[in-house]
Amino acid sequence: MPDKQQTLVLLKPDALQRDLLGEIIRRFEMKGLKIVGLKFVRLTEALLEEHYAHLADKPFFASLKQFMMQTPVVGLVLEGYDAVAEIRKVVGSTNPRAADAGTIRADFSMNMPSNLIHASDSPESAETEIKRFFKDDELFSYEKITDRYIFGEGV
Ligand code: PPS
Repeated sequence: MPDKQQTLVLLKPDALQRDLLGEIIRRFEMKGLKIVGLKFVRLTEALLEEHYAHLADKPFFASLKQFMMQTPVVGLVLEGYDAVAEIRKVVGSTNPRAADAGTIRADFSMNMPSNLIHASDSPESAETEIKRFFKDDELFSYEKITDRYIFGEGV
């Protein structure tokens, strides 16, 4: 049986400004990823210093933080088989111009930092990042009629 995972996604300020929140969430839904957490988050400098700690030495660190604080971001926790890797496939490469056609970044973006989405890059970082942005009582477990088709359980 494949591994059922949860992963964290942030829809960045460019997704909000360009009215792409619904389109992006729709693509995750169409893939069969289940939304188990969803909320607006107002990012702070302290939270971004923690979230992007591995980028502290990069020349774009300061501008990336400024960009991420321009508007609230939308935080999502999505669940599915191999969800970490599957979401990154749907999202596409970090640099939108290197992303494969049909991915969200290739279809709707051109440049960094405006690549629309952050998605956890490993199961370990997904666990850390979900805890960073969501409290336990903000995550929901529920059954959908389509689970049996999407997850192949009992079909
Ligand atoms: S990744 O997705 O983590 O494997 O990619 P990586 O290359 O390590 O990039 C980490 C995050 O830094 C952002 N990034 C940039 N922002 C602004 N300007 C430039 N030049 C730039 N290069 C990389 C990139 O979008 C990643 O952010 P997240 O939020 O993880 O997508």
